[in-house]
Amino acid sequence: MMTIKLKIDKQDIEVPEGTTILEAARMLGIRIPTLCHHEALKPYGACRICLVEVRAGTARASTLVASCVFPVRQGLEVTTDSDEIREVRAGLLELLLARCPGSRQIRELAGEFGVHETPYTPRDHLCILCGLCVRVCDEIVGARAIDFSFRGQALDVKPPLLTPAGTCIACGTCTTVCPTEAVKLEEIARVPYGHAVSETHPGERCRVCGTHPTKPEFPANYDDWFPK
Ligand code: SF4
Ligand code: FES
Repeated sequence: MMTIKLKIDKQDIEVPEGTTILEAARMLGIRIPTLCHHEALKPYGACRICLVEVRAGTARASTLVASCVFPVRQGLEVTTDSDEIREVRAGLLELLLARCPGSRQIRELAGEFGVHETPYTPRDHLCILCGLCVRVCDEIVGARAIDFSFRGQALDVKPPLLTPAGTCIACGTCTTVCPTEAVKLEEIARVPYGHAVSETHPGERCRVCGTHPTKPEFPANYDDWFPK
């Protein structure tokens, strides 16, 4: 297997080709914050909070890349913490703080970067649209019970085509990967995170975490899932 040599925060490391910068940094014990990444799922690159500076070969200028999706390259020099990186992450966190002012996880991460308030108009979401729940339901569970619906500011996680597909087995896996605890098993059968829990399926525990013993109450009326 071909290996790649690079430097991360001035430390030399040699890793297999195809490794991402985030994975290589973690091998060195370097922490890079992430929100939309999970090691069990394919890289996605949605939140950009994991950005780092990279400089290739003799290039003078560095550029910012999302470390969770950027594969290592021969001779790359990576910096995971700098004034510019902290400034961009702070800007992203101001936006997330405006979207999810009630999220403990977002407030804590924002605090790490000195962001305690936001210049943007606050909303009342908990979901940061990272897509982890959608991807785990597709890639690991195979149920595809949820997906992104609508566009722009209305973008949200819902059952595909807003139609109860009956493929959700209430395993609760989506609740274990959500970085903001926006989706809870007790609520997945209700607005706003109606996941199309099957009316006839008895419900199953996730084979990995197995923390959710019971199926949530099934909604009496599908029309109640989506406000008119
Ligand atoms: S509900 Fe949670 S896991 Fe799903 S997209 Fe929103 S923040 Fe991500
Ligand atoms: S963790 Fe890399 S883009 Fe979200």
